[in-house]
Amino acid sequence: MKVLLVGATGNLGLRLVAALLTHGHDVVAYARSSKRLGALLPEAVYNKVTVVEGNATDTTSIKRAILDNDCEAVVNTAGVAAMAPWRRNNMPEIFSAVLKGTQQAGSEKNQPLRIWLLGGLGVLNFPGTETMLSNYVPIFLEHRENIKLLRALPPHSVDWSLLCPSTMVAEKSEVSVPAKSSHGRLTAEASSPPLWKDSWLKHIPFLGKVILAGMNAPRYETTLEQNADFIASDLKDRESPWIGAPVGIIDAAR
Ligand SMILES: NC(=O)c1ccc[n+]([C@@H]2O[C@H](COP(=O)([O-])OP(=O)(O)OC[C@H]3O[C@@H](n4cnc5c(N)ncnc54)[C@H](OP(=O)(O)O)[C@@H]3O)[C@@H](O)[C@H]2O)c1
Repeated sequence: MKVLLVGATGNLGLRLVAALLTHGHDVVAYARSSKRLGALLPEAVYNKVTVVEGNATDTTSIKRAILDNDCEAVVNTAGVAAMAPWRRNNMPEIFSAVLKGTQQAGSEKNQPLRIWLLGGLGVLNFPGTETMLSNYVPIFLEHRENIKLLRALPPHSVDWSLLCPSTMVAEKSEVSVPAKSSHGRLTAEASSPPLWKDSWLKHIPFLGKVILAGMNAPRYETTLEQNADFIASDLKDRESPWIGAPVGIIDAAR
């Protein structure tokens, strides 16, 4: 697929450039500065991508980048959610602009486009309930605004998936093609964190689910390389099982 990658200069974005190329996709990297992207990628990798300069808050520019380059899919890793509930970053503004640009481009192409966006563990449901984990541990709340936007989309207007990782760490500082990960493939589940460890603790009034969520959270650390591979590999299949879903992931081998 030809993929517009928004946020290519970021930690995950750089690994996605490598993973997408490794899985045979064509990459159109959308970044604020081509010079910065060129400095972060090895020359041989940089030479394999088409670069479009633009701001991720600019809906029209994103739509143009998709249409001018005939992209069939978008991955957005731009913007970072604020951790503290009282802080505000530009993440919701970016999320909304990229989503709208993708929706408008799909409407002009007469075909809903595929898009992967980034959320966090907190927008997944506490297993066995319809309540988000961030109701118990209220951090990174901007992701909640974003998932509301996705759920309010008219049906069949965008084929979205929301990857909801906990902390992602780098395996290596440098990026190379073919991309290699020394860890296994991720195990995924729609709507809830996979392989959750349940406990009687959840029945303790008020604090039980908070304690259990806190105990489980560290188990969901994954690597940037694993997440990049997960998205790039999924985009090879137009019939992805993850369309319309927030997706929880775990490294089951950890
Ligand atoms: N890292 C984690 O552990 C973790 C865990 C869960 C979820 N997430 C989510 O995953 C996503 C990627 O994380 P990350 O660690 O890769 O973040 P990062 O390294 O901070 O990268 C953020 C990217 O956003 C770009 N950006 C910011 N504002 C922009 C704008 N107005 N226009 C264009 N580009 C803009 C930055 O570009 P410049 O180079 O131009 O600044 C950079 O490429 C984030 O949404 C984050 O909330 C991360």
